[in-house]
Amino acid sequence: MLGANLGVSAYVWDCGVALCRYFEKQGITFSGKKVIELGSGTGIVGILATLLGGDVTMTDKPKVLKQIETNVIVNVPNACRHRLQVRPLTWGENHTNFPTDYDFILGSDIVYSSVTYPALIETLCHLANQGTTIYLSSELRERNGSPSFHEERLPQYFNCHVVDRLEDKAITLYKMTKIDTRPGDCLPSDDRNQLVTEPNTGSQPASLSSPH
Ligand SMILES: C[S@@+](CC[C@H](N)C(=O)[O-])C[C@H]1O[C@@H](n2cnc3c(N)ncnc32)[C@H](O)[C@@H]1O
Repeated sequence: MLGANLGVSAYVWDCGVALCRYFEKQGITFSGKKVIELGSGTGIVGILATLLGGDVTMTDKPKVLKQIETNVIVNVPNACRHRLQVRPLTWGENHTNFPTDYDFILGSDIVYSSVTYPALIETLCHLANQGTTIYLSSELRERNGSPSFHEERLPQYFNCHVVDRLEDKAITLYKMTKIDTRPGDCLPSDDRNQLVTEPNTGSQPASLSSPH
């Protein structure tokens, strides 16, 4: 069965829906823009970005790609498919296979497990340049350190602005741009020393609330 053993990747999370609604509300289009999505899961955000005109690369861990590809086949008309790629990207591991000239980086509900935060910062720092706009949609949960990740860690590398909040679900949408740094400055030694690969258990971490 598709989605079996995919853990958190098998659900459409509220953060993804919230980010899609934000793009709709703001009238954001991605026409002619180079977009990469991190932790695509089912692919709801990357699929919408493609339908809104973007040249989109949807990424996740290798085991999730088949699910994304299937959802792309079902939801993206043939006429748009040439603007869409699905590629493996595990944060902190193979991000250097990707270019650094994206107009947009998108991520919904990818800030939920503190062991991945240093790797996520490293990947964001590689992919973004000063002209890149990053949208992250996160459900802030004290127990996994996501509030301090957004309020203290990310602002060391990115200009971060809250652009929307869904108070009832504790979902916050951030718009970020990279702070101008010299090459090699982006990842301080503290974060570099903490780089850890998340164990691949395939199960839903305790830090995530139930899917809808
Ligand atoms: C909670 S799901 C969110 C899925 C989707 N973005 C959504 O909003 O419905 C988190 C996603 O991040 C991916 N992910 C977690 N850690 C990752 C890592 N180290 N590298 C790449 N992807 C990762 C998971 O595989 C999963 O698909």
